[in-house]
Amino acid sequence: MSAQSTVVTEQHFAYLAERTRGDDEFLKQLKQAAEKAEIPAIWVSPEQASVMQILLKLNRAREVIEVGTLAGYSAIVMARALPKDGRVRTVELEGRHADFAEEWIAKSDVAGRIDVHRGSGREVLKTFPDQSADACFLDADKSGYPLYLKECLRIVRPGGLFLVDNAFAFGQLFDADPTDSEVPAIRAFNDLMAATPEVHSVILPIGDGCWVGVRQ
Ligand SMILES: C[S@@+](CC[C@H](N)C(=O)[O-])C[C@H]1O[C@@H](n2cnc3c(N)ncnc32)[C@H](O)[C@@H]1O
Repeated sequence: MSAQSTVVTEQHFAYLAERTRGDDEFLKQLKQAAEKAEIPAIWVSPEQASVMQILLKLNRAREVIEVGTLAGYSAIVMARALPKDGRVRTVELEGRHADFAEEWIAKSDVAGRIDVHRGSGREVLKTFPDQSADACFLDADKSGYPLYLKECLRIVRPGGLFLVDNAFAFGQLFDADPTDSEVPAIRAFNDLMAATPEVHSVILPIGDGCWVGVRQ
């Protein structure tokens, strides 16, 4: 068997997206309303959302932590993968984003399963008890990722799931002169994640690259 990997191109992404469950009418409306409200369209792709849902289901996750709510898209998607008594605790720094997300979460089919925590992940995560979550999803300020990883090692139970977005640094991972100021932080975090023995992890080439790991 060959150890060679296939280089995943735009064409492959389009191909797999066409074969993945897309957004339902509610999520399409949420995105339209968010764009109207001038909230940036930087939510995860529907394909990545499906991967995250499948992993949460396989992990039988009930309690999920998210840093970076934005419009509530990924929180709603993740909550839908949980049992009825499941819960997503999602943390958002920007009041405008938190307001929008709360409004749309309240209208969603998983209204009772999501709590929006206002503030920075840097402070809010510290308030979550040890081993109180089955999974975490980090999708906020990249310079905060090392601290969020440290906190999530405390909060997520052994066997729990780690998901961290943007391992490919907005497509600029290998750029000699990246335009996005967060690229160096992502590169440093990728090295940190790879050197963290408490999480058995790998970067999935989906979306902008998503770390997937299991807490040892
Ligand atoms: C990429 S978006 C999140 C997208 C969302 N997870 C989704 O896929 O639907 C990043 C969000 O993180 C928020 N954010 C930035 N710094 C933060 C911090 N220190 N703590 C919590 N949220 C933060 C931003 O305001 C923004 O709403």
